[in-house]
Amino acid sequence: MSELSDSTNAHLPKHIAVVMDGNGRWANKRHLPRAAGHKAGVGSTRKIVESCAKKNIEALTIFAFSSENWSRPASEVSSLMLLFISTITAEVKKLNKKNVRVRFIGDRERFSEKLQKSINDSEALTKNNTGLQLNIAANYGGRWDVVNACKRIAAEVKNNNRAIEDIDEKALNSLMSLSGLPAPDLFIRTGGEQRISNFLIWQLAYSELYFVDTLWPDFSDEDFDAALDWYTGRQRRFGKTGQQILADKTPGRSINISVAKSESAAKASLLK
Ligand code: FPP
Repeated sequence: MSELSDSTNAHLPKHIAVVMDGNGRWANKRHLPRAAGHKAGVGSTRKIVESCAKKNIEALTIFAFSSENWSRPASEVSSLMLLFISTITAEVKKLNKKNVRVRFIGDRERFSEKLQKSINDSEALTKNNTGLQLNIAANYGGRWDVVNACKRIAAEVKNNNRAIEDIDEKALNSLMSLSGLPAPDLFIRTGGEQRISNFLIWQLAYSELYFVDTLWPDFSDEDFDAALDWYTGRQRRFGKTGQQILADKTPGRSINISVAKSESAAKASLLK
């Protein structure tokens, strides 16, 4: 595994979301069926999961199958389903030993009974683990997630368990797929496209977005570390100014005092 600089290690993201794109093109370039690209992609998935576990990253959310992927050729969909079953079966015991907690997000009802069983078994086996939280988005769509949360909150209102005035971002967030986790700090998409593709549209509102041309099966530990190094260099502002962020990090700096002074001057003039 490659080494990270000390400053990167000190500022690692808590939660990383990944769109693993480029499997099909990787296979096409080698005159192989697309399914071979997905199979090769499992290797990169294993590497990033192991790397996150070793680096003590709190959560990793990966996009394995979108609600739109059903419209791919039937042969590709069925080979992906078989790959999911064989991968989950082969990997879950190893993940359990590494203290990884596995959770699936998305509408699992449409999957075969066999796949649903391996999903449920993997969650049950790892549910008490305290290491990396691995979220696998399968038959997931960001809009579906928002609609689902809205339906649940509407039911609470209908049953007199919540007043309309008490609907806020926190309440809606608590009913979404990744409730209980911090929002992803870093979003990585491989394969050269620069879009979110209906992944975690609610949760990615303030994430740093990292796009790289590398096709997913070629995405190495070094490529992951490069993404983490890039992330370290970003200044996360959440709507504040750069000066405020610097002042927040180093209380007592003169900049902090001047911000405080201008804030109290503004308040005083409002009171006049
Ligand atoms: C997108 O590449 C990739 C997928 C739709 C599938 C990703 C799944 C894996 C890597 C398997 C992981 C397994 C588990 C159990 C988590 P694409 O086919 O859209 O590539 P293209 O843009 O080059 O056509």
